[in-house]
Amino acid sequence: MIGRLIAPIAALAALGLTASVHAEINFESQILPILKSECIDCHRAPYEENGQKKQPKGGLRLDGRLAIEQGGSSGDVIVPGDPEGSLLYELIALPENHDDIMPPKGGPLTKNQILAIGMWIKEGANFGNWKGNEEGVSLTKREMAPSAADNLAKGATEAGKDVLDTLAKEGATITPVAPGNPLLRVEYLSGEMRPEDAHVSQLASIGSNITELVLSKAAITDQSAKIIGSFSKLTYLDLHNTQITDASIDAIAQLQHLEYLNLYGTSVSDASLPKIAQLRNLKSVYFWQTSVTDGGAEKLRQALPDARVVME
Ligand code: HEC
Repeated sequence: MIGRLIAPIAALAALGLTASVHAEINFESQILPILKSECIDCHRAPYEENGQKKQPKGGLRLDGRLAIEQGGSSGDVIVPGDPEGSLLYELIALPENHDDIMPPKGGPLTKNQILAIGMWIKEGANFGNWKGNEEGVSLTKREMAPSAADNLAKGATEAGKDVLDTLAKEGATITPVAPGNPLLRVEYLSGEMRPEDAHVSQLASIGSNITELVLSKAAITDQSAKIIGSFSKLTYLDLHNTQITDASIDAIAQLQHLEYLNLYGTSVSDASLPKIAQLRNLKSVYFWQTSVTDGGAEKLRQALPDARVVME
């Protein structure tokens, strides 16, 4: 839907707004009121008006936690910890006269509102106890289009409960991508726990079930790449802020179902781009704070015209 996005403000740090100098943003008291007054009119559950069914704009509902986490027609709109990689933030931080700015009319948001939302995402996009409207939303974080999930699920058997329990004890949070679907999302949520190469090795036992894998900020190295590259059903791979280098990309380029690849804050360079260009299903790829050059990114955009190649 949206082509190249303008660099969002990197003003958060400039203003000294870091977690250490201000109280954590509270979603319900500081963010929800903005969404309610500026966004929800267009981004809410389907409803009828004059006998016509109205769908949420951009396929995105902002009226409930699960709905927000599920994202819109472009996929995820919030990447916890990464405002610059979050479509929702990018769109509110666009220049005032930009075609894609949100809200499209009556905007833009005030600087303070934009900063509050950016800060909230930076701090991990924590919703507290707020759930909002859960009607019509699946209970999984990011449900795949049913056909894609069904196709990928073919031939996958449910992972054994014992194995899952063991992995959970080692710090992994594992959830099915859709009710009754054997495919899994694996992430490590607890702040103190940084998964290492050994944790990734353990995941090999459920490798054919993993379709979403979040290893951001993990203490993993290129050693893990071979194992990750064998998770042939991966659609979503977040490796941002890890020590992954170009040496990992051969293995990752084997993942033909990959739609989302986050390499922000790694040392990958232009040398990896021809391999990444082989990932024909890629929809978003993130290179902010890597050695990838603007020229390299531009070539990748030409090779993968349907993908969002995000540099900032
Ligand atoms: C007047 C209606 C309207 C309002 C108000 C509005 N939006 Fe939108 N929004 C849209 C439309 C229309 C699209 C789809 C644009 C497109 O596909 O080109 C969209 C798309 C989006 C998307 C992209 C979804 C995706 O996955 O592609 C995001 C994120 C978004 N809006 C966030 C917001 C936020 C945050 C606010 C409030 C600050 C807001 N919008 C207010 C109409 C609105």
